[in-house]
Amino acid sequence: MKPSMIKSLQSVIRRASSSLNSSRQHFIRPYSLESSPNCKFTVLGAGAGAGAAVGIGQTRALVMKLNPNHATGYSSHLSRLMCSSAVSSNAGLKMLVTAGPRAQKLVGIWIFGCSIWVFSMVVLGGITRLTRSGLSMTDWKFTGTLPPLSEDQWLIEFDKYKQSPEYKRVNKGMSLEDFKFIYWMEYAHRMWGRGLGIVFAIPFSYFIHKGYITLRLGLRLSAIFALGAGQGLIGWWMVKSGLEEPVSEYVQPRVSPYRLAAHLTSAFVIYCGLLWTGLSVVMPEPPGVTKAWIHGAAKVQRFALPLSLLVGITAVSGAFVAGNDAGRAFNTFPKMGDTWIPDDIFSMEPFIRNFFENTSTVQLDHRILATASLLSITGLWWASKKWDLHPAVRSIVSSTMGMAALQVTVGISTLLAYVPVSLGSAHQAGALTLLTLVILLNHTVRRPSSSMLKSLRSVATA
Ligand code: HEM
Repeated sequence: MKPSMIKSLQSVIRRASSSLNSSRQHFIRPYSLESSPNCKFTVLGAGAGAGAAVGIGQTRALVMKLNPNHATGYSSHLSRLMCSSAVSSNAGLKMLVTAGPRAQKLVGIWIFGCSIWVFSMVVLGGITRLTRSGLSMTDWKFTGTLPPLSEDQWLIEFDKYKQSPEYKRVNKGMSLEDFKFIYWMEYAHRMWGRGLGIVFAIPFSYFIHKGYITLRLGLRLSAIFALGAGQGLIGWWMVKSGLEEPVSEYVQPRVSPYRLAAHLTSAFVIYCGLLWTGLSVVMPEPPGVTKAWIHGAAKVQRFALPLSLLVGITAVSGAFVAGNDAGRAFNTFPKMGDTWIPDDIFSMEPFIRNFFENTSTVQLDHRILATASLLSITGLWWASKKWDLHPAVRSIVSSTMGMAALQVTVGISTLLAYVPVSLGSAHQAGALTLLTLVILLNHTVRRPSSSMLKSLRSVATA
C-alpha cells in the first residue's frame, strides 16, 4: 500500500472514530455503505401509524440492518466507520430533541399519539356530520359543559333544539331518544377535542420542564397548539351558520360550506403539522446513505411537493362536496347524469361562486382533481421505477399510489351508494391516510444535512 494511501486511510479512521463518539451523543446508529444488496429493510404500516412506524426509535422502523456474516475484517469495519462518519457528523444537522435517545423516543411517541388523536377526531367529526348530529347542541363554551344529567335537563336541551331551523324543517316530531343520540354524537366530538388539548398540553409542559424540548420544537408545537385552540372556535363559527334561518323556506338548514371547508382544512393542517414534526423529531436525517440514493431522492422530491399540493387541493375540494351535499347529486360515474359535463356549471353569479357553491361544478371539480391526483401519483411511480432509490422511498411511492387508487375507488362507491355513513367516513379516513403518505414521502426525500453530504463526499474521495 502506498504511504499516501495509508495516510489517507488513517485520517479517515481518525475522523470516523471521533464521529462515532459524537454519534453516541446524537443517537444516530451507523449505516453501511455496502448495505444495498445485503440489507433487511422494513417499513411498518401505512396510515397514521406509518409516521409513527417510521419514526419511533429513529432508524428502528426504517432500519438498515447490516448482515453480520457479510462484514469481513478490516474493510468492512472501515466502511462501517466511514459510514457512521457520514451519518453521524452533526454540524448542520438540526435536532429537535437533544436530551438523549429516551427523550427523543418519548417526545416522538407523544407527538405521533397526538396526530393519531387528530386523525380519529376528523373521522368522528365526519360521522357527526353524516349522521346529521352536528347541530344538536345550540350553545358552546370554550371550557365545555357537563351533558344533561337528569330527564329535566334533557328536556331543557331538547326544547332549545326545537327552536332551531333544523328541528323545524328536517326533524319535526323527533323523539327524545333520537335527540339524545345526535346530542351524544356532537358532545363526544367536542369533548374528544378538549381531551386532545389536555393530552397535548400536559406532556408538553412536562417535557419543557425536563428540558427535552428545544426552542425550535417549542415554537413549532406552540403554533400547532394555537391552531388547535382556534379549531374549536372555527367549529363553533361553523355550527352557528347552521343554526341561522335559511334564506328561503325551501332550503334545508346546513352549515356554510366555506366554514365547513375552513374547519376541515384547519384539521388537515394540524394533522400534517404534527406528523411532520414527529417525523423530524425521530428522523432528523433522511435515509440517504449512498450518493446514488440521494440523487434518486432529489428526483422524487421535485415531483413530491407539487403532487402533495394537488392531493391537498383535492381534499379541500372534497370538503366543498360535503359542505354543499353535492355527493347526493349526480350519483353516476363516469358521466354526471346523462352528460359528461352538466349544463349549469356556470349558472351562478358572480362566476367564482360556481366553484364553491354550485353543486354540479363542485362535484365536477372534485372528480377532475381526484383523477389528476391519481394520474400524477401513478406517473411518479412509473417514472421512479427506473431511478436508483432507497428501498424506503420506493416503498412509500408504491404505497402512495396504492392508497390513491383505493381512495378513488372508495370515492366512486360513496357517490354511487348516495353517501352512506360507512363509506362517507371511510372516504374521509382515506383522504387522511393519503395525506399521511405524501407527508411521509416528502419527509423521506428531504435533502440531507450539509454535514452528511460533506462526509459522503470525503468518503468518496478518500
Ligand atoms: C385523490 C382522491 C380523493 C381525495 C383525496 C378525496 C377527498 C375527499 C374529502 C377530504 C372529502 C370530504 C369528506 C368529508 O368531509 O366528509 C371528500 C368528499 C367526497 N368525495 Fe372525495 N376524494 C377523492 C376522490 C373522490 C372521487 C374519485 C369521488 C367520486 C367521483 C369522490 C367523491 C366524494 C363524495 C361524494 C364526497 C362527499 C361525501 C360526503 O358528503 O361526506 N371523491 N373527498
